[in-house]
Amino acid sequence: MIRTVIAGIGHYLPERVVPNSELEKLMDTSDAWIQERTGIKERRYGVPHKETTTTMGARAAEKAIERAGINKEDVDMILFATLSPDYFFPGCGVLVQREMGITHKEAPAMDIRNQCSGFVYGLSVADAFIRTGQYKNVLLIGAEMHSMGLDFSDRGRNVTVIFGDGAGAVVLQPSADSGRGILSTHLHADGTHAEELAFINPGCHGGYHLGTEQFGYPQQEYGGIFLTEKMWQDQNIFPNMNGQLVFKTAVTKFPEVIREALQANALNPSDIRMLIPHQANLRISQFVQKSMGLRDDQVWNNIQKYGNTTAASVPIALSEAWESGNIEKGDLVCLAAFGSGFTWGSALIRW
Ligand code: ACO
Repeated sequence: MIRTVIAGIGHYLPERVVPNSELEKLMDTSDAWIQERTGIKERRYGVPHKETTTTMGARAAEKAIERAGINKEDVDMILFATLSPDYFFPGCGVLVQREMGITHKEAPAMDIRNQCSGFVYGLSVADAFIRTGQYKNVLLIGAEMHSMGLDFSDRGRNVTVIFGDGAGAVVLQPSADSGRGILSTHLHADGTHAEELAFINPGCHGGYHLGTEQFGYPQQEYGGIFLTEKMWQDQNIFPNMNGQLVFKTAVTKFPEVIREALQANALNPSDIRMLIPHQANLRISQFVQKSMGLRDDQVWNNIQKYGNTTAASVPIALSEAWESGNIEKGDLVCLAAFGSGFTWGSALIRW
């Protein structure tokens, strides 16, 4: 039986550290409020005009490739998970391929648009391609340059203080050792509350879901409007979040999907060596830990240092946990994510 293993892992964090005190100068917020509600002390921001989601993804990918002991030319599929792509289209998959100079093989590149659960979704896609024997070296990247798309005025404070930039990547390969690798992945989605955690404008929706008036769409026969004057005037061009709904749903869905993975493999919470939850909010992770009955040393939290890096958060945390010697061969690792969509998922890996 072929299993998919993580052959190499790496992450990249931009150098610039942005403590809460820096945000206090830009908007009506406080270090105490941010820490109390989210656990975040600081986050990283990339260098505008010099770094992007693609370049950060490439830096993480280079490390993962080196640690996998392969050459970048060996990569035969790229999967790129992000919600802050360089361009609306084409996706970061092809941009990272060019950035890394690996276009010669014309290997496929695919973007995954599942926000906070993008990496777990990507892992599942890679696992399927590898187990069917179609690809041998799949490069999966999760990267975000949120800082380019946040509202640094008072209006954006509930969202802006949470997010940070960064990237993580893995190289996935087949292994004939059925005792290790990805044991199972579990994916879910429910679009009922799609707009409650969303980046809606500019977009091609034409007011379809929420009404044309709200966005100032003039009645006309041909579309042709991606960004209306009203959107701009109202500054309705940034992400929005219903924090309380996200919180309530997340603390239900995280434990649910972790239990689903454990049950599918006849395992228990006590078997988990390390839970790597998507770093949404420290309070959410603490809630999940408590409801699963996990000890502190079984859960990896780094949101205090990096904020929420969405699709990058799981691979950054996994990479950091592995680098620090907290994940060793044979350990049971559980990845879990929840985010915009809503979408959520989990993966169990025998390291
Ligand atoms: N600084 C100071 N005050 C703020 C800030 C801020 N940055 N943001 C909001 N407030 C104010 C609000 O305006 C409100 O003021 P009011 O009472 O005068 O109206 C007050 O704080 C309370 O606002 P709430 O939104 O009710 O605050 P809440 O206690 O729900 O905390 C938070 C907000 C932290 C966003 C919380 O809802 C939460 O953690 N939700 C989960 C969201 C999350 O984790 N998102 C991560 C991204 S999604 C994902 O990765 C899954």
